[in-house]
Amino acid sequence: MSLQNKNILLCITGSIASYKSVDLYRRLKKEGANVKIIVSASAGKFISPYIFESFGEEVFSDDAFKSPLSHIALSKFADVILIAPATYNTINKLAAGIADTLITLTVAASPDKIKVLVPAMNPNMFANKILKDNLNKLAKHNFYVVSPGTGNAACGDFGEGKFPEIEDIICDIEPVFKEKTLKGKRVLVTAGATREYLDPVRFMSNGSSGKMGISLANEAIKAGAEVTLIALNIDMPHKYINRRIKIINRSGFSDFKEALLTEFKKCDTLFMAAAVSDYGFKEKSPVKIKKSGNAGAGGILNVELIQNEDLLKAVSEIKKEGQTVFGFAAETDSIIENGRKKLSEKSLDYIFINDVSKDIIGGDENEGFLINKAGEIKRFEREPKASLAEKIIRDIAAQ
Ligand code: CTP
Repeated sequence: MSLQNKNILLCITGSIASYKSVDLYRRLKKEGANVKIIVSASAGKFISPYIFESFGEEVFSDDAFKSPLSHIALSKFADVILIAPATYNTINKLAAGIADTLITLTVAASPDKIKVLVPAMNPNMFANKILKDNLNKLAKHNFYVVSPGTGNAACGDFGEGKFPEIEDIICDIEPVFKEKTLKGKRVLVTAGATREYLDPVRFMSNGSSGKMGISLANEAIKAGAEVTLIALNIDMPHKYINRRIKIINRSGFSDFKEALLTEFKKCDTLFMAAAVSDYGFKEKSPVKIKKSGNAGAGGILNVELIQNEDLLKAVSEIKKEGQTVFGFAAETDSIIENGRKKLSEKSLDYIFINDVSKDIIGGDENEGFLINKAGEIKRFEREPKASLAEKIIRDIAAQ
């Protein structure tokens, strides 16, 4: 896990969102982090430090005078100081260099440490120019700001300022510890499955969920890339997609092809994880096909299929110097042999062969083989798609 054994000092300041820091704390622990906590005096009015003590944590009160050298010890402990939620008051105080509480003192004692701010406040307060100027100022001094969510604030006002989703915060903290191996790179990922319509209601597709592609897109963001995801019929609400990823939604083969060819020209690396239909219907009925009157003898309805172009091959043919094309293969038998054949026939830089005989389609885990164009082969044992994606990104960034 990426936060394994990392020391995180969680500083909770007083906002209606303070209670969400409990979920954040639990998630940090789940990721393997060591967490120490400071609860500010006003946060203590929203949540009780006893919650964290019940989990066995030592909780520090924000009283600067309680223990004279706590701020130095806490600063030494922290790999990252995470202020979540960070209020309007705390952010502006930090920017002014004020150090009158344990939280602000610890930050003052940690100029070289990464500080992550998770602002949470009313949208008008978040839009306040004083705050914006101070956030910009802090960004120049090792402070990283997690953008708040947009929605209805506790008071009912709509806008930017909500405490973000826990997953978004984790996703923004993880890169702090990661090498930015893809910094400055533009990565294009395709994920999901195309749909080929027979009539306005029926379509032909496959069980690809898009999880492998989404995992690659999330990991590429963490490695510092600018990422575009062409999402084919993905059930978005049930999947975590980093909000910094640009998403282009497409469904059928032709619309997908048009988006792919446009976006491919702008990228450095393409991960073609989408399951593209090899065939489409020769004719699409403009009206729903009725069951009576259409079937022939024995209730058989004949439809003709026509082969679709291979898009991966098409992009490889227009590939420019410096671009990398990473393809996938779904195989049930002779998997290495078939994978090698696809790598060479489609002129790929890499291919990842999924052994789909092993019940991986639509699941959370994957396994298979990575082959590069020099023919080197690497086996990946079964593991969650997210950690597999992390390894793949690390591998190709190193080559
Ligand atoms: N692919 C593509 N266009 C298609 C079919 C597949 O670009 N019309 C891409 C997929 O996105 C994947 C790779 O080709 O990255 C391999 O797909 P796969 O389904 O394993 O193989 P096919 O080339 O379609 O061959 P076959 O179905 O005969 O195994």
